[in-house]
Amino acid sequence: KNAKMIIDKSFRIAEIDKRIYGSFIEHLGRAVYNGIYQPGHPTADEDGFRRDVLDLVKELKVPLIRYPGGNFVSNYFWEDGVGPVEQRKKRLELAWRSLETNEVGLNEFAKWAKKVDADIMMAVNLGTRGIADACNLLEYCNHPSGTYYSDLRRSHGVEEAYGIKTWCLGNEMDGEWQIGHKTADEYGRLAAETAKAMKLIDSSIEMVSCGSSFAAMPTFPEWEAATLNHTYDFVDYISLHQYYGNTMNDTADYLALTMDMEHFIHTVVSACDYIKAKKRSKKVMNLSFDEWNVWFHSSEADDDTMKNRPWQKAPHLLEDIYTFEDALMVGLMLIMLLKHADRVKVACLAQLVNVIAPIMTEDDGGVWKQTIFYPFLHASLYGRGTALLPVLDTPKHDTIGHCDVTDIESVAVYREEKEEVTIFAVNRNIHEDITLSCDLRSFAGYDILEHIIMEEGDLKTVNAYGRERVLPKNSKESEMDEGILTAKLHKASWNVIRLG
Ligand code: AHR
Repeated sequence: KNAKMIIDKSFRIAEIDKRIYGSFIEHLGRAVYNGIYQPGHPTADEDGFRRDVLDLVKELKVPLIRYPGGNFVSNYFWEDGVGPVEQRKKRLELAWRSLETNEVGLNEFAKWAKKVDADIMMAVNLGTRGIADACNLLEYCNHPSGTYYSDLRRSHGVEEAYGIKTWCLGNEMDGEWQIGHKTADEYGRLAAETAKAMKLIDSSIEMVSCGSSFAAMPTFPEWEAATLNHTYDFVDYISLHQYYGNTMNDTADYLALTMDMEHFIHTVVSACDYIKAKKRSKKVMNLSFDEWNVWFHSSEADDDTMKNRPWQKAPHLLEDIYTFEDALMVGLMLIMLLKHADRVKVACLAQLVNVIAPIMTEDDGGVWKQTIFYPFLHASLYGRGTALLPVLDTPKHDTIGHCDVTDIESVAVYREEKEEVTIFAVNRNIHEDITLSCDLRSFAGYDILEHIIMEEGDLKTVNAYGRERVLPKNSKESEMDEGILTAKLHKASWNVIRLG
């Protein structure tokens, strides 16, 4: 089979906001305790942070990390996590039915984020708390000095204000599982008033209003329209969350699910633009896809843990072990985010360590990379610059739930200052190889720097500690001739073709 593509400098989607390579650390399972933080571990640094984890996070070059939740934030009292550690309260953590010791709070997390060179995207509790507490937290974080909360921060040893720029107004407030779940009008009013007050404290911050928890929510997309009706003038982004899984064990249909993701993005953009028109506003509401990933492997075990063995510190929760086909799915989702870089300005791979994560730790051992580590790494390394929309003529196939599924999904990124173009492409046809012929007409003189490929005979192959089998390799099956790139895209493969 053959596919044809044209890539041209002028087929510009948008400048990519580096924050689309954001991620997420929630106080959940072993993300914080025994994940990023494990005093006493052989690699722990002077602050108790695991150096082996720090190194892998740095390798991923994550520019932004959402914190502290997630569902966790909806009953979180941030004051519990600041001040002398020995005086901190232990709490019942209701979202994940765990024990929160508060040994790590915002100052410890900020220290860790600095070590990995990431900014914090801070979430406020709009489940069980409200405007005043969100304002207090912002004053603690961003006000220089001379007020109760800014001086409290200084008394905790943090002289300089953090200047945290991006703030989430609660989390998944449309979900009935959320503590303090609200109707669209209840949430919209609260979010608007909270945003208004927070911007009085610091007008430089940007705020994210909660969109739907996933596209199949019964309240989607009315939730978006109804909440934005209240928040449009006060916020800068609306959030999208979406996880996929091969729950029916039908790989072809699983890999087609990014068609649903695209429909989700289009619908949220439409809801934003509808409210923009309704309000005669000039402001463009952008999207923060602040939770996305594959999540389904661990669900049954998690229900059992939370039901039958609650109130543990750092329980094993949401520890999905990813297959190779999950890595393909993550690659497809990354391509989708890049294809919509004109409106998606923030995105967070949920999550980063141990909890539905690319990085896993052994309690008494080392770290290891899940299969999904690699597509994220490649996109974060080579997917910065201008997103270019390829004109793509690809064979298609049908699956049980989707028609006209493109065999090839692709996007290109032009890094002008380095004179490099990277083509990200997935062949999601699980049966047939495809020869891609790509006209690179506006990139005269460019040659192939490398063609990285990931493929596995068994799509269910997983990695494990000391046994990392799913790895990228170099393909020799691409060539450049007079501005035409010819590349063999093997069935069910992730491809990164770098040209310069
Ligand atoms: O990322 C795991 C959970 O998924 C988050 O806590 C919640 O926001 C979402 O439902």
